[in-house]
Amino acid sequence: ARVDKAGFKHFMAKEIHEQPSTIAEAVRAYLPVGDDAVTLPDGGLDFTGIDRVVMVACGTAYYACLTAKYWFEQLARLPVEVDIASEFRYREPPVAARTLALFVSQSGETADTLAALRYCAGKAERIVSVVNVPESSIARESDLALPIHAGVEIGVASTKAFTCQLSVLLILALKAATDRGALTADDLADHIAALRGLPASINAALDQEPAMESVAKRLAEARDILFLGRGLMYPLALEGALKLKEISYIHAEAYASGELKHGPIALIDNQVPVVVMAPRDELFDKSVSNMQEVMAREGKVLLISDDKGISEAGDGVWQTIRMPRVHDSLAPILYALPAQLLAYHTAVAKGTDVDQPRNLAKSVTVE
Ligand code: G6P
Repeated sequence: ARVDKAGFKHFMAKEIHEQPSTIAEAVRAYLPVGDDAVTLPDGGLDFTGIDRVVMVACGTAYYACLTAKYWFEQLARLPVEVDIASEFRYREPPVAARTLALFVSQSGETADTLAALRYCAGKAERIVSVVNVPESSIARESDLALPIHAGVEIGVASTKAFTCQLSVLLILALKAATDRGALTADDLADHIAALRGLPASINAALDQEPAMESVAKRLAEARDILFLGRGLMYPLALEGALKLKEISYIHAEAYASGELKHGPIALIDNQVPVVVMAPRDELFDKSVSNMQEVMAREGKVLLISDDKGISEAGDGVWQTIRMPRVHDSLAPILYALPAQLLAYHTAVAKGTDVDQPRNLAKSVTVE
């Protein structure tokens, strides 16, 4: 079927706005209505025979894996190693017995990811993939392929595929947690209810688009932008910086907030916007002290947080973007929206080719 822009100026804008329904679709596929348990296709997967997980991917899919590491380790108490496919395949790392090898790829055709999968075949206990294209090479060569149900993604900068990858990976972490007896029935029910409510929160985040558009006009004037996050928000900070680089061509870097004082703080002056992604979770106080370090050096803090976080952050913050409150585990999925929309509107303000950024390809099938 032909895919058009459905009235949006760019495919990327359309795909960003599709996320309430694509996420709902992904959640429904693995958490069927009326059943409070995770359902996997094709005979599923039992984590009781698994001692560790290795996740391998490229680009945005790699950041989805980094986020999933926090979920698998915190919820399922299962150790996870994450690697960039081009590094993994040539390092030829040992793959221990009882390892689940997990490959995440929107296209399912990325050459390095496919090569990493082939390297693990015959070594890992199970080969599982999280893909958007069920008939792709990576899906076909896996023992189990988990479709993300995002629909065709045209914009080179991945958006809806990322949030669907995250949704499926979180659900898979819940499955691992259940199999390993690491999560109480109540906690599982809380997570499931939160996932089912996520599309409504994504819609509420989309309502903040005008605020993001106006901040983006200011960001478009910057030469360098720093993204900071802690815990689950750290991989998302990396994704926010990547999105901005890809389509606006502004230099952006992301750091774990706690690393600020080990280097990047040297870059801070009154010209550098610092995007802090920090829901009011248990690490919030630490993020506030990092923000204060930035503001003491006249850095311009753009705080993305919820009501409580914004009011507790105090004075001196340059700009704020308000997100609805969600279950802590779901914050990286929700906060992907402002990361995407800031990049999008910054690129639009600069007049770059949003859907076809220079030098980039949607699918990298050669090395
Ligand atoms: C390219 C795309 C990125 C994507 C990456 C991995 O670089 O421009 O948006 O994240 O490949 O692609 P995959 O299809 O494996 O997810």
